Amino acid sequence: MVKNFCVLGIESSCDETGVALVQVSGQGVPTLLAHALHSQIEMHQAYGGVVPELASRDHIRRVLPLTQQVLAESSRTLKDLDVVAFTRGPGLAGALLVGSGVACALGASLQKPVLGVHHLEGHLLSPFLSADPPKFPFVALLVSGGHTQLMRVDGVGRYQILGETIDDAAGEAFDKSAKLLGLGYPGGPALARLAEAGNPLAYKLPRPLLQSDNLDFSFAGLKTAVMMQAKKLGLAQGCAVEALPDDVLADLAASTQAAIVEVLVKKSLVALQETQLKRLVVAGGVGANASLRTQLNAESAKRGVRVHYPELLLCTDNGAMIAMAAAMRLQSGIQAASKAYAFDVRPRWPLDLIQVTA
Ligand code: KG4
Ligand code: ZN
Repeated sequence: MVKNFCVLGIESSCDETGVALVQVSGQGVPTLLAHALHSQIEMHQAYGGVVPELASRDHIRRVLPLTQQVLAESSRTLKDLDVVAFTRGPGLAGALLVGSGVACALGASLQKPVLGVHHLEGHLLSPFLSADPPKFPFVALLVSGGHTQLMRVDGVGRYQILGETIDDAAGEAFDKSAKLLGLGYPGGPALARLAEAGNPLAYKLPRPLLQSDNLDFSFAGLKTAVMMQAKKLGLAQGCAVEALPDDVLADLAASTQAAIVEVLVKKSLVALQETQLKRLVVAGGVGANASLRTQLNAESAKRGVRVHYPELLLCTDNGAMIAMAAAMRLQSGIQAASKAYAFDVRPRWPLDLIQVTA
């Protein structure tokens, strides 16, 4: 691979269509030239969650206009693209096929190679797009809608899972609790907003696996405890939410958020202690949570640990992280882009399968 090259990245694994252009110049941290995003939240809101078929169709509608927008904003043309990257998985099969199909069609018509990226590796490396990029090695707390993992990261493709959720992910705990409180979809940001006005000590909720001797998480019990509490307050089958005083709802939201955040913070600190690393990277949608950031920053500062986050806009799904992960894999030489144009997506794809052996 030549030292300087331009990567187009396409993300379409769930309910966001993202396209971005990243420039690699030698061994420096690749730079983001432009990115564009279309969120399908409004479209899915009416159904209370993501409808896969609608998601796929909307990706089809959005992906080419977003590509044109990114090229125009970066004053580039299709001829300037050296590699086309796409999210290969995990995610919704039909949605993934849109991004991979478009990427392979673009690559084939331009005679440029393509590269399928692991969505979670995109999240993991997204802080390298920030003004304050991390340095390897670091501990990563990966908290997305479907995954909660603590990892030791020694380089691109060198990921060791230290602990992960045995049931629900932290994002799911936010989303499911939000649904119980009548907050709809997407629940995480709505619950966080409501929690701002609430008392986090108002309700005693469990901190699952907090005292366990490993770095695994479990959030399913928390969701059940929130449900029991909601029932006690008279909330059943999604009705009567409006009948509750605002401060009661806010208190329950704040208590739920506090339980999730405390577990994430404490386990991250144990991971830092066990690895003796002084750098923490937080990535994935839940990494946008203000309370999580405040508490991690405070606890890390006490221990001389630096915490790195993606830019707020790049915490949730986007094309920039896909272009970036492809750029870094190519730059580090652990993978080459291919002209096979086999858009074989992997809706289920464990992150440890993309590791390089040290
Ligand atoms: O990484 P992401 O965009 O998608 C996946 O790859 O899953 O993460 C989405 C998750 C959802 O569960 C959403 O509710 C949660 O991130 N989320 C938040 C916040 N923003 C997004 N959770 C708590 N507080 C937030 N501010
Ligand atoms: Zn994601």
